[in-house]
Amino acid sequence: MCGIFGVINDQTNEAAQTILTGLKKLEYRGYDSWGIAIKPGSSDSLLVEKHVGKIGLAQTSLPQGTIAIGHTRWATHGGVTDANAHPHLDCTKKIAVLHNGIVENYQELKVKLLEQGHTFISETDTEIIAHLIEEKLKNQSLKKAVFGTFKELVGSNAIAVLHGKSETIIACRNGSPLVVGMGVADAYVASDVPAFLKFTNNVHFLIDGESVILTKKSILLYNTDSGSEKKFSWSVLDWKVEDAEKGGYPHFLLKEIMEQKKTIPKTAQINLVEIEKTAALIRAGKKIVLAACGTASYCALAAKYFFAQGGIHAESYGAYEFLPFAQFCNSDTVFIAISQSGETADTLIAAKAAKKNGATLVALVNARGSTLERLADITIPVGAGPEIAVVSTKAFTSQLATLYLLSHAVDGTIAKAQQNLTDLGNALEKWLDVKLQKQVVELAKTLMDHEDMYLVGKHLNYPATMEFALKIKEASYIHAEPFAAGELKHGVITLIQKGTPCFVLSSNDRVKHEVLSSAAELKARGGHIVGIAPYESLEFDSLIKTPDAGDLTIFPNVIVGQLLGYYLGVGRGADPDKPRNLAKSVTVK
Ligand code: F6R
Repeated sequence: MCGIFGVINDQTNEAAQTILTGLKKLEYRGYDSWGIAIKPGSSDSLLVEKHVGKIGLAQTSLPQGTIAIGHTRWATHGGVTDANAHPHLDCTKKIAVLHNGIVENYQELKVKLLEQGHTFISETDTEIIAHLIEEKLKNQSLKKAVFGTFKELVGSNAIAVLHGKSETIIACRNGSPLVVGMGVADAYVASDVPAFLKFTNNVHFLIDGESVILTKKSILLYNTDSGSEKKFSWSVLDWKVEDAEKGGYPHFLLKEIMEQKKTIPKTAQINLVEIEKTAALIRAGKKIVLAACGTASYCALAAKYFFAQGGIHAESYGAYEFLPFAQFCNSDTVFIAISQSGETADTLIAAKAAKKNGATLVALVNARGSTLERLADITIPVGAGPEIAVVSTKAFTSQLATLYLLSHAVDGTIAKAQQNLTDLGNALEKWLDVKLQKQVVELAKTLMDHEDMYLVGKHLNYPATMEFALKIKEASYIHAEPFAAGELKHGVITLIQKGTPCFVLSSNDRVKHEVLSSAAELKARGGHIVGIAPYESLEFDSLIKTPDAGDLTIFPNVIVGQLLGYYLGVGRGADPDKPRNLAKSVTVK
C-alpha cells in the first residue's frame, strides 16, 4: 500500500517531473491521492504539491531542481484529503516525509509531540515522523535523528525523508519494500523498480533493518540499528522498460491478460533446478503445505488438485487462516508460499510460523527482492514480469503453471508437463486474439446490468471458478459467487431465478457429465447458462469455447474470466487497472 519514490542528481533538472512520471508507474500501490516535495535549486526550503485523486493525468507546477521525493497514497489513517496526502512536513518545513505502512504506536508518540509544542496539520500517522525527526535534529545529526526516529516506530514501515538544507534523502525499511537504483550520477529509491526502470536496472533491494542515504556525492547503505555502513549487493535486472509500459493497450490489465500466451509457456523453460530441488524434498517424503492470499490462494487450491492427480497429498490454506494449523508443520514439511508481490503480510506471517516450526520454505514469487524471497530456503521466481494492474492475471497463471511442473517433477514426468505447457502456449497464441476479445465484449454487453452472477465448476475447474469470480468482482464490482458444482443442491440453488447468469466452467474430463447435470439443474430453475468449455452442449445458452488442453484447460477457462472482468469493468465505468479500495500489495494484517 502506498508508493514511495525519490531521486537525487536528476539528470534533467526536472526532478518533480521525474517523480511524477515514476509515481504513475507506482499508482497500483495506492491511488487516492499523491504528492511531491522538491528542493528547488538555490533555496533550502522545500516546496510541496499534493492532490486528492488518481495521478494518471496529473501535472505538476513545481519548479526545476535535481532532488525530489513523491508518494501515491492508499489511505489508512485519515481520510482522503489534500492535507492527509504525503509528503508531510515538520513545523520548520525543512523536512519532508513519505511513508508506506502503519505506525502502530503513533497516538502515544503524537501525545508527546503535542506536549512538546508541535503543530499537526493532518490526521495521519505519518506526520509524527516528520516532527519526531525535527525534535531529534535539535541535538543530533540528520542520520541519527532519522534512524533514531525510525527505530521508535512500531509496525511494518518504510519511509523516505528529504532534508532540504543538506540535500539528502534517507530511506529506511522495516517490513515494507524499498529498492535503490543506481544510475550514472543519478540515484533513486522507490517502493518498486518500475518507478525508475527508465533510468537504471542496476538495483539493490533493501532488507529489513537497512537504510540508504543518498546525497549529491554518495549513496551509502547502513544497518539502521547500529548505524554502521554495509556493502550494497547490486543486481542487474533483466526487465525491459516496455514491461512497465502499456505497449499500445488501453490498460495494463488487458496487456497483462494478452501477455499470457508468452508468460505461460515461458514457465516450462525456467526454474528447472529449483523445481527439481523442491521435488526431491517431496519425493523424500516431506508433506506439502501450500498457503497464499486472494488469487494466489486459488492457485494453491488448484495446485492441490494437480498434486492429487499425481497421487501426492498436499494441503492448501488461505494464509490468513493458517496460524491454528501451523503447529502441524515441522521439519518434514515443505511449505510453499505463493505470492506475486512476496510482501503480503498474512502470507509472510504464515511462512514465518511454518519456518519457525522447522518447515522448508519455498517461495513462489513474481516480483523480485521481496521479504518472502529473503525468508525462503528455495525461491522459485515465476518470471511473469512486472504485473502493474492491481488485478492479478499473468502472475496467477505463471504460478499455477510452475506448480503444475512441480507436481510432475515429483513423479519424474516433468518433460511431458513442459511439452504440455508449450502446446498450451501454441494454442493460446491462436485463441487469445482479437476475435476472442470481440466475443467476450458481446457477452459482457448482455451481462452489464446484472448485479449477481453464479459460477460452478468441479475438481480443477472449482478453483478456476473462484478465480474467474474474483476477476469479475474486482474489475467490475459485480457480485459473482463461485460454487463447487456438487454444492448446488445443498442450498445454493435457491439463489437461481429466471435469467440469473450462471457460468459453467468445464474441461473435457471425466467429471464433465456431472457438471453438465448441474448446468441442467440451473437451467431448469431459469438460470441463463454460459458455458466456458472446450466443447458444445445443449445445456449452454451461450458458449465461450476454450482450447482443449486436457488438465490445462483451466488456464484458458480462467483467462475468459479475466477478459470478461476487464470488459465488464470498462463498460461499467470502473478503472480496470485500479479498482476501488484495493492495493496491489497488502502489507498490513
Ligand atoms: C487479486 C489480487 C489479490 C492478490 C492477493 C495476494 O487479483 O490481486 O487477491 O492475489 O492480495 O497478493 P500476493 O500474490 O502479492 O501475495
